[in-house]
Amino acid sequence: MILPKLALDTEILQNTKVGDDVYALTVHGGALVNQAQPGQFIHLQSPSGEVFLRRPFGIADMDESDGRLTMYYRVTGKGTRAMTRLLRGAKVNCLGPLGHGFSLSSKRPLLVGGGMGLAPLLFLAKRFQGKADILMGGRNQAELFWKDIFSPHAHEIFITTDDGSLGRKGFTTELLPELLGRGYDCIYTCGPEIMMRGIAEVAVKNNIPCQVSLEKRMACGLGACLSCVCDTAHKERKKICKDGPVFWAQDVFFAH
Ligand SMILES: Cc1cc2nc3c(=O)[nH]c(=O)nc-3n(C[C@H](O)[C@H](O)[C@H](O)COP(=O)(O)OP(=O)(O)OC[C@H]3O[C@@H](n4cnc5c(N)ncnc54)[C@H](O)[C@@H]3O)c2cc1C
Ligand code: FES
Repeated sequence: MILPKLALDTEILQNTKVGDDVYALTVHGGALVNQAQPGQFIHLQSPSGEVFLRRPFGIADMDESDGRLTMYYRVTGKGTRAMTRLLRGAKVNCLGPLGHGFSLSSKRPLLVGGGMGLAPLLFLAKRFQGKADILMGGRNQAELFWKDIFSPHAHEIFITTDDGSLGRKGFTTELLPELLGRGYDCIYTCGPEIMMRGIAEVAVKNNIPCQVSLEKRMACGLGACLSCVCDTAHKERKKICKDGPVFWAQDVFFAH
């Protein structure tokens, strides 16, 4: 069923720094919360008008009981810098939930996230109610503040850092083959594209279905402007905002 998209002026409940240049923004999401699925995103309007276009953020958490919806954002430019100035009680316009989320059919899921790609995987881990294992990677220990956020919602957590300051030194793609004996029936990944391609390659070699969450600069977020089009393995063109952001890896990464 395709549900209508909502553009709501949501009240800001919290906008807190949680890591180097990373903030958690919680709003009172109202009807957005009842409709949202893991992997979908919110298109957020800059309240100060500093940037004209909305900015997309994965839904990282939501609570149906009190209507809270949380996004995590890294300050990368003008729009996200303006977001850091949003105060509790102010209103911000959120359009969503947008896109197609993850298929949740897995009985033994492994979630693999790098950097800010971990944000939408948090919502997914919560939906799996503690049965998902998480493999997370980052540049260093400071970047993996995510460990504490995920631990109440994960079965087991495995960590890699580029500098070895936490977990195994190296990349998630290097640790993944060692974990596959644990019987995963689906891998869900979000993060830098180079990481997701590496994860998908290992998954495909081992006949494990793999879902990837793609990112591209977006304008409308609704499938109308074509700014987010990507080529698929079947030589079709897909809109990441509407057909994705979640795709099966073999549909977007591997030529047929
Ligand atoms: C579906 C989707 C979900 C996302 N979820 C999150 C999330 O949960 N948390 C988060 O921190 N970020 C997320 N992003 C990325 C986020 O939308 C951008 O970082 C943000 O729009 C940057 O806005 P800005 O005005 O601060 O930066 P700008 O001034 O617009 O750009 C600053 C720099 O970031 C680059 N950039 C901007 N947008 C993107 C993009 N979509 N992909 C790659 N590079 C980009 C620009 O090329 C430029 O180098 C998501 C993007 C998409 C498409
Ligand atoms: S952002 Fe306009 S079509 Fe995807």
